[in-house]
Amino acid sequence: MAQVNENYLNLQGSYLFATIARKVTEYSAAHPEADIIRLGIGDVTLPLVPAVTEAMHKAVDEMGNADTFRGYGPEQGYDFLRQAIVDGDYKPLGIAISIDEVFVSDGAKTDVGNIQELFSEDNVIAITDPVYPVYLDSNVMAGRTGKAVNGIFEKVVYLPTHAENNFSPEFPTEHVDIVYLCSPNNPTGTVLSRARLAEWVAFCKENDIVLMFDSAYEAFISDTDTVRSIYEIEGAREVAIEFRSFSKTAGFTGTRCAYAVVPNEVTAKTKSGERQSLNPLWNRRQCTKFNGVPYIIQRGAEAVYTPEGRKQTGEAIAYYKENARIIKEGLESIGLTVYGGVNAPYIWLKTPGNMTSWELFDLLLEQVQIVSTPGSGFGPCGEGYLRLTAFGSRENTLRAIDRIKTLKF
Ligand code: MLT
Repeated sequence: MAQVNENYLNLQGSYLFATIARKVTEYSAAHPEADIIRLGIGDVTLPLVPAVTEAMHKAVDEMGNADTFRGYGPEQGYDFLRQAIVDGDYKPLGIAISIDEVFVSDGAKTDVGNIQELFSEDNVIAITDPVYPVYLDSNVMAGRTGKAVNGIFEKVVYLPTHAENNFSPEFPTEHVDIVYLCSPNNPTGTVLSRARLAEWVAFCKENDIVLMFDSAYEAFISDTDTVRSIYEIEGAREVAIEFRSFSKTAGFTGTRCAYAVVPNEVTAKTKSGERQSLNPLWNRRQCTKFNGVPYIIQRGAEAVYTPEGRKQTGEAIAYYKENARIIKEGLESIGLTVYGGVNAPYIWLKTPGNMTSWELFDLLLEQVQIVSTPGSGFGPCGEGYLRLTAFGSRENTLRAIDRIKTLKF
């Protein structure tokens, strides 16, 4: 008889966003007239920009013509997109990345979930608390975390981030092999400074740690005191793998396109102590388990780097950033304490009084029909916080703030 992978039985509850969706469905079934505003999951609402859809239309026509039709594409992504990424995202920052180091995929979630396959089960991982749940859950599934006691996994090193440490985690004091960092951060909407990231890179080098750097929200950065890519930091090529996405940058949440950069210098050790470059292993993994992102989608992603694509997607980012400002300033105007929302599309709200995250979630849903994300769903240190996203429409964002202003906390 087949045996189940019991690591799955160690997962805590259901995936956070599935739990929220269930609660909202139940509420709406009980209140069919409710006009619900969704500021929960970080999903974009603006359509794909014209530069992207025009490129996709053209690619559809190519696929419908015998002379230009394409079957399986390269598992790593078409060179036209990999080159556009290198030229568009890295060259302007003065960073040399070769196209063999860029792997196009169908999502940063997919990549951060899958990358852990390259590491043996006994690696120790460190994650921030709160954290994007995929880093943790994918390691739970792989058996790297042990069991959870009161929501804390025995083998995971947690790096608390909260207002008291300015959302900048301390270095782990125990041995770790892999660290996940996300900046601009999901869920807190805060960024790590350039100086702090330089310290992290140095720490990882000194301690032979692989750094998983998730920069899916880099397009939202306006401060100059941070980095858009970890490779802006000297030495990062030796320790860091970077994850980027077209989802939030160009509205691809439903169309799916992202990429990971795996520099040739990033290594992990074999049992006998030799260094093994991770790039060829990731290449092998992708070739074996992935058949690439559809041609039509990759042509759409390539168009993001054209002057029109840059301009149009830039306008969409500015729109969401303005939503973030409206939420942040609206909440502050009624005396609430908020973080994030300046270099990121997420606002991290301190719950008023002694309310728990889920209590505030329920209150917002039941009294003003707003869907949010409870901070505790991202980890124990998220308790007492709540996340709102700036990805709603302008109209809904304004209405949501007006509604929240009617509440008495
Ligand atoms: C979120 O709401 O945290 C995002 O939608 C997560 C994601 O991009 O997968």
